[in-house]
Amino acid sequence: MTSDETAAPNGGKPGALPFDTKVAHVARMYDYILGGKDNYAADRAAAEAWVKIDPGAAFSARSNRKFLGRMVRYLAAEAGIRQFLDIGTGIPTAGNTHEIAQAIAPESRVVYVDYDPVVLAHARVLLTSSEAGATDYIDADLRDTDTILERAGELLDFSRPVAVSLVAILHAIPDADHPHAIVGKLLDAVPSGSYLALSHLGSDLLDEETREGIEGLGRQAMQQQMTTRPREQVARFFEDTDLVEPGIVRVEEWHPEPGTGDPNKSCLWGAVGRKR
Ligand SMILES: C[S@@+](CC[C@H](N)C(=O)[O-])C[C@H]1O[C@@H](n2cnc3c(N)ncnc32)[C@H](O)[C@@H]1O
Repeated sequence: MTSDETAAPNGGKPGALPFDTKVAHVARMYDYILGGKDNYAADRAAAEAWVKIDPGAAFSARSNRKFLGRMVRYLAAEAGIRQFLDIGTGIPTAGNTHEIAQAIAPESRVVYVDYDPVVLAHARVLLTSSEAGATDYIDADLRDTDTILERAGELLDFSRPVAVSLVAILHAIPDADHPHAIVGKLLDAVPSGSYLALSHLGSDLLDEETREGIEGLGRQAMQQQMTTRPREQVARFFEDTDLVEPGIVRVEEWHPEPGTGDPNKSCLWGAVGRKR
């Protein structure tokens, strides 16, 4: 979809984000930085501006995606989770949540949620489930937790543990939209023994100039404002959980694959917690 003339894939459906290819969107910027083709000129320009401000952005994006893979593998293989609510899915790429979970446990059920029309246009990739399992896709805004929980309940059994993943999405929710209350509401809907997994741009992992540059880019050139947060605010998302070792660390330091030491450092906090 590198052609900038593609028609709106959502057909202007109510509830979907306005499909404006002239304003950069975080899903398509992330896709571009990861080497994907589902992006437009405005996304590429903003992504390049981001890399100028933060030359480590490509390393951070790749590390974040790898964190998602290790986190899902851990939850499916070690924690025995069979239900996933993956909010802020992103444009499908290698190693989507259901592919990783169903490779370990084919009966896994995965509900994806995103509000980017380009992600919606590719949703069929996410709906190709193993026969034993099932997947669904909800076109919704994270802030609309009622819709998400109601629709997700059609596939997921909320009386059994669910992993709620919010990987690299919460920094797109400004304080005014109460991100901690949103996460609290999602966790209230799932039973004890469920998991919360997330990554988040860390204000304390960036120097002041870079942090201001990223937040300024969000205000000027993107559909989403970017709100970086310090470790203690990331910790607040996990207050009803017991953190899985090693706790809140940079994404590349969470259960690293042996022999993948890289001198670079990402600017994202990552963690997984088990609901008490
Ligand atoms: C940086 S991508 C991360 C994709 C994937 N979770 C990963 O880490 O590889 C962030 C995704 O969150 C989605 N997103 C951002 N704000 C959202 C919101 N308020 N509601 C739903 N999705 C949102 C974007 O459309 C994008 O697909």
